[in-house]
Amino acid sequence: MKFSWVLLVCTAALAGAADLDCPLPGGPDTASEETCALYSACLWSGDRCLLAEDIGYQLDGPPLVIHTGYEAYLERRRPEATVFGGDVDRLHVLAVEYDDHRLGVSFRDANADRYEVPVPLDVPPLPTDPNYPVYDMSLSTDGEFELSVQHSGAEVLRMLPQFVYSDQFIEATFVLAGSDVYGFGENNHDSFRHDLDVGETWPVFALDRPPGDGVENLYGTHPFFTAIEDDFGHSFGVLFLNSNAMEYRLFRLEDGSTALTFRTTGGILDMCFFFGDSPLEVLRQYYLTIGRPVMPPYWGLGFQLCRYGYTSTDDIRAVRERMKAAQIPQDIQYSDIDYMNVRRDFTIDPRNFSDLPAYVQELREQEEVRFVYIYDPAIAAEFDGGYPSADRGVQSDVFIKWMNASLVPDDQCEGCRDYVVGYVWPESKTLFPDFLKVETVNWWVDEMRRFREISGGADGFWIDMNEPSSFGTNLEKPFNWPDDLPPWSLKCPDTKWDSPPYPTRWVRDPSNESKRLSDHTICMSTVQGNDTHPFLHYDVHNLFGYAEASATRLAMDMLLEGRRGLLVGRSTFPGSGMWTGHWLGDNTARWKDMKRSVVGMLEFNMFGIPYVGADICGFNGASTEELCLRWTQLGAFYPFSRNHNTIGTPAQDPAVWPSVAAAARDALGLRYRLLPYLYTLFWRARAFGEPVVRSLAFQFPTDPALRGVDTQFLWGDGVMVAPILDETSMTSVNVTLPAGKWWDLRDGKLAYSGDITTTFQYHVGMDEMIPVYARAGTILPWQRNETTTAAARRNPFNLSVFGDTAAGELYWDDGESRLAPYLGDFYRSQFWLESGELHMDVLQPRTDLMHQPVLETVLFYGQHQPTAVLVDGEAFEDWSFVEDVLTVRPNLDMATNHTVTLQ
Ligand code: NOJ
Repeated sequence: MKFSWVLLVCTAALAGAADLDCPLPGGPDTASEETCALYSACLWSGDRCLLAEDIGYQLDGPPLVIHTGYEAYLERRRPEATVFGGDVDRLHVLAVEYDDHRLGVSFRDANADRYEVPVPLDVPPLPTDPNYPVYDMSLSTDGEFELSVQHSGAEVLRMLPQFVYSDQFIEATFVLAGSDVYGFGENNHDSFRHDLDVGETWPVFALDRPPGDGVENLYGTHPFFTAIEDDFGHSFGVLFLNSNAMEYRLFRLEDGSTALTFRTTGGILDMCFFFGDSPLEVLRQYYLTIGRPVMPPYWGLGFQLCRYGYTSTDDIRAVRERMKAAQIPQDIQYSDIDYMNVRRDFTIDPRNFSDLPAYVQELREQEEVRFVYIYDPAIAAEFDGGYPSADRGVQSDVFIKWMNASLVPDDQCEGCRDYVVGYVWPESKTLFPDFLKVETVNWWVDEMRRFREISGGADGFWIDMNEPSSFGTNLEKPFNWPDDLPPWSLKCPDTKWDSPPYPTRWVRDPSNESKRLSDHTICMSTVQGNDTHPFLHYDVHNLFGYAEASATRLAMDMLLEGRRGLLVGRSTFPGSGMWTGHWLGDNTARWKDMKRSVVGMLEFNMFGIPYVGADICGFNGASTEELCLRWTQLGAFYPFSRNHNTIGTPAQDPAVWPSVAAAARDALGLRYRLLPYLYTLFWRARAFGEPVVRSLAFQFPTDPALRGVDTQFLWGDGVMVAPILDETSMTSVNVTLPAGKWWDLRDGKLAYSGDITTTFQYHVGMDEMIPVYARAGTILPWQRNETTTAAARRNPFNLSVFGDTAAGELYWDDGESRLAPYLGDFYRSQFWLESGELHMDVLQPRTDLMHQPVLETVLFYGQHQPTAVLVDGEAFEDWSFVEDVLTVRPNLDMATNHTVTLQ
């Protein structure tokens, strides 16, 4: 047990006191002496309404060492002082040392149960009593309560005394080491590293809202951050395991130190700490804890095409034909809600899409192109045979209900019982499945099974609108309400859940039309889960998409006959990555949105959802040729690479403009060549908890110059992409090349070799590909590209080796067996170059999973011309040295180990 009772004297201590603004429901701008006087825990000081420093909690008895860690009881310091009332008088603090790198610290009501997030963390059930934790903590200084956490010899987090813990409002402020903080979401952050000087308060609450220009909460909920503590790259991360409406603020205190205020409107304060020598080690701990990501099928790494507003199967076919004619790679075609009959899930429009199922089969069988269908959670409230899925749902009682009968509005709809009723895309009012019920999961699986039978058997699903979205809540009527009907909308009651005392910043946002938490979603005063242990929607709103993804993945596991299938979802929570990928939602065809997509992609790789990308060329608005060209080049390096746009906008698939088609062929050509590498990275994410896409800050954490770079990104540790993101310099790019050697993959030339990180400006004509680099030390496995992944997979393999000393590996399976990674149904080999010898070491010789288990060529970059080349010790003649690249063509059998020696 390594806990200390008091701060170790040798640690560098963080600031311990600060002026903190009172949480005024109208926001800090509404502070006045008068409003401040409404809250007895607040003090008017100068022109600010501050939380009094003597509120909060003190120890009630000394902290105790228990076998899991440490525990203490706290009591309020000034019981009469409150912000919103309902304060919890006595808190139980539990510190659990899960293992050497993970620590949990939770604060619960000592006398009553409160809601806790029903999402399990993968931590040891019994703490392992670690011998050498890399962290240390204390709950007390001089007999006073004070949470302090240390890592690598320094204090990295300290909780300030102004701690509020009440029925519907919890606030804690922490001082953090360093000033490089990343994460929290889902928000439309302009930069990957938080701007502490701006110090915005960001809301977190699942919401169907296109990422715009404000300070916005978006679709998912990820209360997790990582901070780099020092110049050595030591890092820590914290997950606040909470699912209520929240907000956070990262800012500087008066003395310049970094601070975080975390506020939530329910649940408990439950913090899980992760420590590492680097940010990537923190992420590894985080991935292992929330659940490692599902591997996409190999074809899911191909290019994907979608739009909202296809008018018929022929319309889709025409676009696909255009792609083929332009020789643009494509692996997946989508249909948005257009395919549905009057926009009802599990149906096909008999007028315009009756031939879609046949086309889905044709695409798969004749073109090796897969199809993905969208599902929305909202179910049209049409009964008595009009819509059997709804009837079966009612029979199994699967929909979210009002909290009690007295709340059921008179004007809901016939047959809608005590279910909460909203309005989305269908032509009728809608009900919302409660995915926290077993009955709902069974019903969903069954509906998906029935749909599979009539829809051509697609293996890919796209789950949208699952915040859950409901239009026009609390307004006169939804924007798409039929003109010929009297106005109607879902109106939420004035309960403590729908009108909480502090509804977070989201409610103050100008885009919140009804100024309520339930704006654009369903009411908080509804219940989910089983009858004996119901959850308030107020508490579990942020879990809707998580639960739907879990149910959909279960259905896929049951229906796809052992295939993994593809799943992308909109609303996510920590752990969603175990089942689904994510697209970044309804962006706009603007340069700004393209730039921000890099930040979003980096953040979701922190959040354990590496299969992520944005709608290439922009969803809302009309794209331009230049924007779409540069976005196509960037999007070729999103792990989830899909072009999608909204209804009513001009077509923007890459075949529309010859220039974009050429750019797509080039950029996707490189992507398709590198897919064996990318797939191996996804396997490593699944197997070891490594993010697929990384920021330069996280990959090179000892270089403070890289901490703020978010216009470039890496695939693994070997490939770096430098997209063009700026309208004003459409044909030039500033590229920061970290110390070391980097080769430009466009021409194979050495782009930089140096001991210091340097920024260069390059001209990139509109007919040129954006720079993509390989780092010295990397060995990339690749195949010749084709226009589908299925065809590319049939080609032999190659290696590109960069530098004098390098390493790499290849994971390979049949591309879609669900259990392949677990049952050992895969091929795996490792490669390394040392002292002029390239070794290929086969760890799992399942070459039966390859079409051509042949290592055709090996390209060496950064080698001198050899006098001789040996393959497996024998002199070998088939090699050439042209423009500094040594090409050896050994055609090796990949089932056995080999050595290529350069003399
Ligand atoms: C909202 C989704 O975010 C978007 O991608 C989709 O096209 C529309 N819903 C219509 O289904």
